[in-house]
Amino acid sequence: MTHVDASKKSVEAGKTNAFLSDMADRPIRWMVDDAAKFAAREVRRGKRYDGIFLDPPKFGRGPDGEVWRLEEGLPGLIADCRRLLDQDSKFLVLTVYAVRMSALAIGEVVRQALADLGGTVEVGEMAVREEARGLLLPTAIFARWSR
Ligand SMILES: C[S@@+](CC[C@H](N)C(=O)[O-])C[C@H]1O[C@@H](n2cnc3c(N)ncnc32)[C@H](O)[C@@H]1O
Repeated sequence: MTHVDASKKSVEAGKTNAFLSDMADRPIRWMVDDAAKFAAREVRRGKRYDGIFLDPPKFGRGPDGEVWRLEEGLPGLIADCRRLLDQDSKFLVLTVYAVRMSALAIGEVVRQALADLGGTVEVGEMAVREEARGLLLPTAIFARWSR
């Protein structure tokens, strides 16, 4: 498994989560890198993945100041993710929040990029349930390709 984030602090948080989830002994590559550059490099290396989780911010910076803007960068990143998936791959999950895009819109980006792989794309909204009154608090939208 490979985990990529531009922030060392986020990578440390990921390691803590892995420990708390009893996964400290799993073979995880913890990379501090620009996600788009990393994906493009993996494509050039001819790598493949069984599945990919993407949780990009609306705006971010890579470790060398690379600028990430979701609306501009997402189609290219998804295209590279498609090149990293093959006929044996099982899933790609994309979650985004605080963006001017709907779940349907991100679903179409995923659906069109992965169309030749078959499978299905589901889209929707993610939420946590507030304990006191059981209210659903929206947190993000998602698109999930799987088979
Ligand atoms: C929505 S958070 C997701 C973090 C993690 N999935 C979590 O649940 O804690 C977005 C993450 O993207 C990282 N990020 C921002 N720009 C990036 C870039 N260009 N390349 C890689 N990671 C980036 C941020 O450091 C941040 O941790």
